[in-house]
Amino acid sequence: MSKIVIANFKMNKTEQETKDYLINFLSRYEGYKANLILAVPFTSLPIAKFMLHGRDISIAGQNICEDEKGYTGEISGQMLVDAGASYVIVGHSERRVKFKEDNKVINKKIKNGLKNGLSIILCVGESLADKNTMKTLVSLKSQIEEALKGLYENELENIVIAYEPVWAIGSGKTPSSKDVEMAVKSIRKVVSDDFSSKAGEQIRIVYGGSINPKNISKFSNIDGLNGILVGTASLDGNIFMQIINSMT
Ligand code: PGA
Repeated sequence: MSKIVIANFKMNKTEQETKDYLINFLSRYEGYKANLILAVPFTSLPIAKFMLHGRDISIAGQNICEDEKGYTGEISGQMLVDAGASYVIVGHSERRVKFKEDNKVINKKIKNGLKNGLSIILCVGESLADKNTMKTLVSLKSQIEEALKGLYENELENIVIAYEPVWAIGSGKTPSSKDVEMAVKSIRKVVSDDFSSKAGEQIRIVYGGSINPKNISKFSNIDGLNGILVGTASLDGNIFMQIINSMT
């Protein structure tokens, strides 16, 4: 299976900047065999849809409202699909912290995304306090269990779990390969216990948090890990390409 590589542009790039980025990136991307997903800002979804038409690259939104309709400033699943997304990021720690999204809301967002035909990139990860008090695995377990509550096992095919330690996001700090391997194992165990051992084996898991061309070798060959999620380092197409090259 080809590795999953997700770019998260976060709150960066105007429509024109996304267009310029893709012109440069696509001229050099031909031929690589990564399962590439680009999470662009809402305002860049239509240009990404236009430019990626007919290519094997998926587009993701970075948020979805938990309800179908009704709230000023929110975005619905139907709108995301219409604008070109086939994935959506749910539960990113920046949203958990800044916008107080809890596991209950995240669970509703996942269900709403799936109902609209979107695949989900579910972000989970321990805080620095969890890590320092040896609560990483407990924290991962409760985030995953609450987020996936009430889902049917066959819906897990459309979920990618992104293991992103909160303290590693945007900080330049990364966990050891061994720690990531252990987290991946325990995520598989939680899914296995809650659904089935087959589901635990098959769920797709990626690592995210301060990945760059210098440290990518640490994450390119971890047992049970299906890929990566790259934030800041994906904003420069040349740097992102170096990372993709190291993965494929
Ligand atoms: P980062 O972001 O690569 O800048 O740490 C990761 C993310 O978007 O979660």
